[in-house]
Amino acid sequence: MDKQKIGFIGTGTIADAMVRGLLASPAAVSEVTISPRNVEIAERLAAEFVEVSIAADNQAVIDASDMVVLSVRPQIAQDVLSGLTFRKNQSVVSVIAATDRRALLAWIGTDVHLVQAIPLPFVADREGVTAVFPPDPRVAAIFSVLGIAIECDTKEEYDLLAATSALMSTVLCIMASSVEWLEKRGLPKGKGRAYIAPLFISLSQTALRSQSIPLEQLSQEFATKGGLNEQVLADFEKNGGRDALTAALDRVLQRIRNGGGT
Ligand SMILES: NC(=O)c1ccc[n+]([C@@H]2O[C@H](COP(=O)([O-])OP(=O)(O)OC[C@H]3O[C@@H](n4cnc5c(N)ncnc54)[C@H](OP(=O)(O)O)[C@@H]3O)[C@@H](O)[C@H]2O)c1
Repeated sequence: MDKQKIGFIGTGTIADAMVRGLLASPAAVSEVTISPRNVEIAERLAAEFVEVSIAADNQAVIDASDMVVLSVRPQIAQDVLSGLTFRKNQSVVSVIAATDRRALLAWIGTDVHLVQAIPLPFVADREGVTAVFPPDPRVAAIFSVLGIAIECDTKEEYDLLAATSALMSTVLCIMASSVEWLEKRGLPKGKGRAYIAPLFISLSQTALRSQSIPLEQLSQEFATKGGLNEQVLADFEKNGGRDALTAALDRVLQRIRNGGGT
């Protein structure tokens, strides 16, 4: 991959994670220009990485960069973008959640090369999975350094993956509830988490490694006839666990399709 100059408009949580991932050794980009807000995050990044410089303002980020990442919150995107001048065909990556591509292009007001992406905080450790739309080799290369890039051929695919990216809190809540359950029933503090976290890692690794086996089949394989896993799965389904999950995903997908993400 060519080492490009990358810039960030909006230096918040996700920009911080991306910059850390991109500049982990060996660095994947040659220069990183960040906007001055948030000032604490910007100054911390500039102090830690020689490749990072803080621009005077958002326009200076654009002027200094081959690829510009838009990483402000959706609520201010129009205000921020409308006042800026991008170069024709400039590479622009928007990580702004659930904001329509046509709206972004209208606010940008120039014929840029716009790609949308959903990086997750794990990119800081180069362990993220990032949905990218539309497919783009340069952008996919960036997110492949930061973990795994999944390129979406359609907006529908992209919105579907965006919906499942909203499962993170729920999965952590399942882990938290299991640990709380263990401790309330007498397991010493710390042991439950030490057990549950690797259990979830092993399950994810099994799902990743066994790509040819449908997940439903994998689930059944762990549910030995008459065994404990089969019993818990049956209780979960009988008590509406799967239905609750499906309904929650349907509702968040609707919100994404209506352009209401944050
Ligand atoms: N966090 C995630 O895991 C995640 C994942 C995927 C996508 N996203 C998307 O990424 C975007 C940023 O999310 P975030 O979590 O990083 O939010 P955040 O931490 O609030 O970062 C947004 C940053 O924008 C800065 N900002 C405010 N006004 C600005 C302006 N006029 N010009 C330039 N920067 C300005 C803010 O600075 P101040 O602090 O000074 O106001 C803040 O540092 C959102 O659209 C979100 O949907 C986030």
